[in-house]
Amino acid sequence: MNSVAKELLGRIRREGSINGQIIKVDRFLNHMVDPLLIDRLGVELAGRFADREIDKIITAESSGIMIAQALARHLGVPFIYAKKKRPLTMPEFFAASSYSFTKEESTTLYVSREVLQEGERLLFADDFFAVGSTFKAIEQIIEQAGATLVGATVIINKSDRRDIEAILTMKDLTA
Ligand code: G4P
Repeated sequence: MNSVAKELLGRIRREGSINGQIIKVDRFLNHMVDPLLIDRLGVELAGRFADREIDKIITAESSGIMIAQALARHLGVPFIYAKKKRPLTMPEFFAASSYSFTKEESTTLYVSREVLQEGERLLFADDFFAVGSTFKAIEQIIEQAGATLVGATVIINKSDRRDIEAILTMKDLTA
């Protein structure tokens, strides 16, 4: 396990909790936020994608924004966050809905046609990968745009998918 993964695991054990499948990280990651920790996570994940051709990072509101920003900054590209409410200033858009099992509600994600162009290469980033409903909606949006998904990365991957680049997996958390 690398040093930033060890640091994150230590923070979860000391300041958060692991309750079955639910990881509490709201004192440093997704409610109160430690910007220096986020930055170190961004450096680590950016390093893993340094040799890929990436035009933009894409995430969804709200907790994905911090990690997408850190990653984008270190890869030197912009990031897009899909919005959960469509503003009046977004007349032309791509949209897809995702069902949240933790919140038991369906949400539509919107991305303006002004920020996502055909042929662009996108990297998906988020805080958690649980069942992948957010990821699926983002995949649909990328497809609607005729853009390409080049990979996916999260801070904590709770699923069995091995194609999602993560700092920690459930195995690390329960070891
Ligand atoms: P998904 O993330 O793979 O799409 O699965 P799921 O529908 O279960 O996740 C719904 C929401 O719950 C997501 O946030 C996700 O980040 C969050 N989540 C999933 N697992 C955990 C966990 O173990 N701990 C915590 N703290 N959150 C978890 P969201 O609804 O998209 O929005 P937001 O909270 O980022 O605004």
